Amino acid sequence: MIDIRKDPRFRGLEPFPSRVWLSSPTMHGDEQRWVDEAIQTNWVSTVGRNIDEIEKKIADYVGCRYAVGLSAGTAALHLATKLAGERLYGQARPDCGTLAGRKVFCSDVTFDASINPVAYEDGEAVFIDTEYDTWNMDPAALEKAFEMYPDTKLIVLAHLYGTPGKMEEIRRIADEHGALIVEDAAESLGAKYRLNGRWVETGSLGDYNCISFNGNKIITGSAGGMFLTDSQEDANKVRKWSTQSREDAPWYQHEEIGYNYRISNIVAGVIRGQIPYLDEHIAQKRAIYRRYKAGLKDLPLRMNPYDEEKSSPNFWLSCCILDPDAMCRTVRGDNDALYISESGKSCPTEILEALAAFRAEGRPVWKPMHMQPIYRTHPFVTAEGNGRGRSNAYIKGGGIDVGADLFRRGLCLPSDNKMTPEQQDRIIEIIHRCFA
Ligand SMILES: Cc1ncc(COP(=O)(O)O)c(C=O)c1O
Repeated sequence: MIDIRKDPRFRGLEPFPSRVWLSSPTMHGDEQRWVDEAIQTNWVSTVGRNIDEIEKKIADYVGCRYAVGLSAGTAALHLATKLAGERLYGQARPDCGTLAGRKVFCSDVTFDASINPVAYEDGEAVFIDTEYDTWNMDPAALEKAFEMYPDTKLIVLAHLYGTPGKMEEIRRIADEHGALIVEDAAESLGAKYRLNGRWVETGSLGDYNCISFNGNKIITGSAGGMFLTDSQEDANKVRKWSTQSREDAPWYQHEEIGYNYRISNIVAGVIRGQIPYLDEHIAQKRAIYRRYKAGLKDLPLRMNPYDEEKSSPNFWLSCCILDPDAMCRTVRGDNDALYISESGKSCPTEILEALAAFRAEGRPVWKPMHMQPIYRTHPFVTAEGNGRGRSNAYIKGGGIDVGADLFRRGLCLPSDNKMTPEQQDRIIEIIHRCFA
């Protein structure tokens, strides 16, 4: 562990008196008004004005006809994945998932909540490698996956850290193979993508679209999520499933499995107060990204990239990736990491340790799903084809694995929109000292 009082590299730098967060909630006061109104009018349940308002406002913002407020982004992803499974393969027995025995092509470098719903529905996630241009699903690897598993009909795709993926290529490939897309826009609400010359919001690019209002997201309800669609039938089905799947009868009558996934009117009140500040939060996050980009430009690292012509990220998290030659020696086990400090070099573990010692919160890049113990036996496809078993004890070389490389060399920087320019300057200085 770095001891900043003993390590001469950090001489003269003081820790922050209070923590600088990776990305924490930013309340503005309006949230209180809508929560109070819900309590005063006794709409303290999973129905009420706040829910109606946020569904209308977010649907308008994103450009989808219908929105259904849910308890979490994970709930939205589950029901979106289940809808896709039902459309493709029919209704399942109550004790069986809709994707039983089916493969689903999934983003690899993402939070596991994106793709766990495939397992909830008894499907098998096939992880698709990542590209370096936007850190999202690689269309070339997706093409390979369709060559290897041509019967596959579903793709689950996330936009990492608020940067849209290569949707034009991915949509074309999906259409060629008659596949549906579940879009996980949990991290990217407010990010835009130029699809066939027209700017559209992430959260409207899939056949089934999901966002999150988790506490660390660009706007928050403390929790909460939303399913977005142009299909009234799908919206109605998600509403029904999320409220225990009650049939039209005087008693509780059930013909299909239900869930308790509906959003609370209290949580929706917080979100209602946040929506007017979405664009302001994005502007603050963009300024943070630009400040890092300028402040770190003399170091052997690059910011997380995006396509300036085709996308406008929401800059939810500012990240960077160290140049290969600038990495000191480092290894990671399942639960811990070691490195050997070296002048002129560093590594994500060292930088994150230094930031933590100064009371600033960073984070490693999402550990790819194909490397997670729980999914180690699942297929992984790269732009070269099968990504498993690529090395050979007797022949040099091992094939590409972009996700593993991003995980090894990348990190998420403190990106809280309440961070002051002075605090950010100190963070930039700490990162410089790591390379001293
Ligand atoms: C990419 C991604 N997908 C899904 C989720 C799950 O959302 P929630 O926490 O609202 O369930 C998150 C974040 O929490 C996320 O970052």
